[in-house]
Amino acid sequence: MERFINPQLSSIQISGIRQFFNMVSQYEDVVSLTIGQPDFPTPDHVKEAAIEAIHTNHTSYTHNAGLLELRKAISHHVNEKYDLSYRAENEVIVTVGASQAIDITLRTILQPGDEVLLPGPVYPGYEPLIKLAGATAKHVDTSQNGFKLTADLIEQAVTANTKCVILPYPSNPTGVSLSNDELTAIADVLKAHNLFMIADEIYSELTYSAPHTSIASLPSVRDHVIVVNGVSKSHSMTGFRIGYLLAPSWLAKHILKVHQYNVSCATSISQYAALEAIENGQSDPLHMKKEYEKRRTYVLDRLDQMGLRYQVPDGAFYVFPEFPLEGMSSFDKAVQLVEEAGVALVPGDAFSQYGNGYMRLSYAYGMDTLQEGLDRLERFFRKKKSE
Ligand SMILES: Cc1ncc(COP(=O)(O)O)c(C=O)c1O
Repeated sequence: MERFINPQLSSIQISGIRQFFNMVSQYEDVVSLTIGQPDFPTPDHVKEAAIEAIHTNHTSYTHNAGLLELRKAISHHVNEKYDLSYRAENEVIVTVGASQAIDITLRTILQPGDEVLLPGPVYPGYEPLIKLAGATAKHVDTSQNGFKLTADLIEQAVTANTKCVILPYPSNPTGVSLSNDELTAIADVLKAHNLFMIADEIYSELTYSAPHTSIASLPSVRDHVIVVNGVSKSHSMTGFRIGYLLAPSWLAKHILKVHQYNVSCATSISQYAALEAIENGQSDPLHMKKEYEKRRTYVLDRLDQMGLRYQVPDGAFYVFPEFPLEGMSSFDKAVQLVEEAGVALVPGDAFSQYGNGYMRLSYAYGMDTLQEGLDRLERFFRKKKSE
């Protein structure tokens, strides 16, 4: 019967990150620097709110768009922090992680034949969803452009079929972000070509060089942009599965239909936890950010000492150094690192073909682990040099 399933699935594989992760788990004594989530526990006051929600029987369906109280807290938070104006009543939808926000938005706007532009290298969560919506993902090579998807690159790649652009900054896997001027130039292109944009801002609370700017704060593109965000990375709540999207009411009402028939609503207990995180946990991301910042300085120093080149990450908890591949693919090189150096980095080709020649190193690890992993890497390079 397998041949009767949706043919789109035959071109969709388990993500390269997951494939690599599964492979690494078969080896012993490997220092893994591969993780894509905070290594801090969820803050206690947030956990308590979830427990309290269970004890007080907040265990039934909520409004499809999420608890109004939570939507109000989100609306207030994004207004204070990012100068965004979205009405809690009809422009905010609470989702099952940022992942579901991306999926329901794509399914609302796409139809077969449409193209979606996205930077390459990029988080691998978008392309399969674009394909499942019957559309085509077109990666734009940003590797010669500091990993930035700019107005010029979008302009060069746009065709009559382009419906949407994905703007995922600060970036997974590179950590790079965009400046206000770069965002303003992109806004002009969106308007000129009547394009939608999904601004995936899930790492917005984790920026080091400058505070995050959301492209949706430019009033001229309010009708074009859907903002995706959530508490997974900001409050170390990946398992709670709470994200949200912000969209103008005329669009949010259609996205809400897809959301309703998809999940009815996000988990009630997790919504109460997210409410606590957003209302009373404003400083939680700051504690984690301070730690990431120290680790980032350490990791970049060590990469410098090894002579590895990289773009300085502006945010998130990743750095994406260039790696001498010696004729191998990034995947095979990463396997060699596991086998010969005892250290695991995510191969760059897991983030599209434009990531080949790079590795993603996550610094969502304690200093001891980072030091041991980087020591091993350094020994590996020294040994290679002497061979
Ligand atoms: C850029 C990006 N967007 C979205 C997600 C998914 O977030 P969530 O766990 O909230 O679904 C991730 C997770 O790694 C990510 O890196």
